Amino acid sequence: MDLSALEKEILEADLSTEEGRTAFQKRFLQKGGVLESLLAELRTLPPEARKARGQALNALREKARQRWEAAKQAYSTPLSTTPKPQDPTFPALRIQPGGRHPLSLIEGRIIRFFQRLGYTLATGPEIEDDWHNFSALNFEPDHPARDMQDTFFLDPAAGLLLRTHTSTVQVRVMERQKPPIRILAPGRVYRNETVSARAHVYFHQIEGLYVDEGVQTSDLKATLTSFVENFFGPGTPMRWRASYFPFTEMSAEVDIACLICHGAGCAVCKHTGWVEVLGCGMVDPAVFEACGIDPHRYTGFAFGLGVERLAQLLYTIPDLRLFGQNDLRFLQSFQGYGYAL
Ligand code: DAH
Repeated sequence: MDLSALEKEILEADLSTEEGRTAFQKRFLQKGGVLESLLAELRTLPPEARKARGQALNALREKARQRWEAAKQAYSTPLSTTPKPQDPTFPALRIQPGGRHPLSLIEGRIIRFFQRLGYTLATGPEIEDDWHNFSALNFEPDHPARDMQDTFFLDPAAGLLLRTHTSTVQVRVMERQKPPIRILAPGRVYRNETVSARAHVYFHQIEGLYVDEGVQTSDLKATLTSFVENFFGPGTPMRWRASYFPFTEMSAEVDIACLICHGAGCAVCKHTGWVEVLGCGMVDPAVFEACGIDPHRYTGFAFGLGVERLAQLLYTIPDLRLFGQNDLRFLQSFQGYGYAL
């Protein structure tokens, strides 16, 4: 058969109609088509003639394929022009927006409160050295908090550890900035504790530090009382307890009435009816000295808030392990709180 006639046919066939394309496909591309049978006939040719004829047939088949592809592209109907019947009663697909994690919601709310009082944000690394986590904060070399029981040491020889509190950021800020200082440092901290309903190996704190001339204990008390009232609502029972931290003198802790059991006794309040939500105090002069700030001129207060604790009480969450489990049933119950909280 004369291949040039076939080639002409392939190149000139009208593929603009559906019928034209179907006929073309049958004749040139499918089993039983003319090209297929010519290829099958190759076997009957003498070997010398086979190669050239085979190549020519394959070239034709390729041309046919290319025209077919091009026609398919050119003439296929774009989807958008196909009118679809509209059914306005059809139920809409549910849009599932993501939500912020409850700890982020709480953190954002605390930050906004202190920003209104003029605090700015500061951060520090989670992998710390002994100086920023302990020594500069006036921990004695044999203080029990340095113990392996509490601290995750990464490289004891180099003194590297996972910070056990955000008080490290106080040191980092005071080392590079001179008073007046008013910062808030949110972040994750780590402790080698047995995981339970009220303790975890990691949790979140927000550190606050205010240093200037003439800062007094009454400033500390006023600031934190107004924070608690803003956070939990006016009249929420709170109590101040004298305490001890190496980096503050005086030191105190603030407890809130357990909003989970309302005093009936539960695991979160250890059956006392009160939950500790923050530690605070007047910055110890030894810390100012370690950071290069004149303790005769400046005074200041500091505080550390436990974010999980605050969230637990506000939302009455009986077990803080829920914060880290990514259980959608738990997380979705905070959806819609958005930024309004
Ligand atoms: N760093 C303390 C802790 O993790 C909390 C704390 C107490 C922070 C007193 C402070 C403070 O800034 O003044 O338990």
